[in-house]
Amino acid sequence: MRRAPVITIDGPAGAGKSTVARRLARRLGYRYIDSGALYRALAWKLARGAAPGTPLADTQVELVPRGDEVAVLVDGVDVSAAIRTPEIGRLASEIAADPAVREFCSALQRRLAAGGGVVVEGRDAGSVVFPEADVKFYLDAAPEERARRRVRELTARGEAAEIGRVREELLGRDRADRTRTLAPLARIPEACYIDSTGMDVGEVVERMAREVERACSTIS
Ligand code: DC
Repeated sequence: MRRAPVITIDGPAGAGKSTVARRLARRLGYRYIDSGALYRALAWKLARGAAPGTPLADTQVELVPRGDEVAVLVDGVDVSAAIRTPEIGRLASEIAADPAVREFCSALQRRLAAGGGVVVEGRDAGSVVFPEADVKFYLDAAPEERARRRVRELTARGEAAEIGRVREELLGRDRADRTRTLAPLARIPEACYIDSTGMDVGEVVERMAREVERACSTIS
C-alpha cells in the first residue's frame, strides 16, 4: 500500500515556517515535524557543557505531541522553551554544518516520518532528507518582514528585542545556512515558492492546502 503523503516546507529563518507547518498539519490531520528543533536540541546540550564530539548515539532527542504544541525533550529533559533563544539558534546553525550532526538529525526525521502523513519544516527537508516528498514548498518573506515577525514573537514571550539586531541575527544565520557545503538552504526548482510578505498565516495555509489537494489528487 502506498504511504500517506510527505510534505516539506523549507526556507530562511523567520519566514513563518513553524506557524504555517503546524497549522497545515492540523488541517490535514498530519503530524508536524520541526527539524530545526532537533538541531536546537543538540545545540542546547552542547551549550550546557557537553564536550564537543560527545557521541551523538548517547543523545536522545524526542518530539512529544502535547495538545496543540510539540514538546522537545533531550535525554528526558523538557527543553521546549530553552531552545528558542537567539544564542541557541546561532549555535544550532553552527553545528548544522557538521556531517555527523546532519546525519543524526536527518535519520531521526526519517524515523519520525515513517508511514508518511507528515509536514516537515526545515532547510533541507525537500532537497536532501525527503527528496521523494509528495509536495515541496519554499516559504520566503522579505528580511524586514521576517525581522518584524521575530520581534513580535520575542516580545510576546516577554523578551527584549531590537529590530536591527534581530534582522542582523536572521541574515547572519541565513548566510551560514546558505553557504555551508553540506545540505545548504537552497530554493530547489521543484518546490512551490511562496513569498509570504504581506500575507497572513491563514492565507499561506490556504494556498498550501490547495496545492497539496491539487498535487495529491494527481498521485495515483
Ligand atoms: O528552523 P530553526 O530556526 O529552528 O533552525 C535553527 C538552525 O538549525 C538553522 O539556522 C539551521 C539549522 N537547521 C538545519 O541546518 N537544517 C534543518 N533542516 C533545520 C534547521
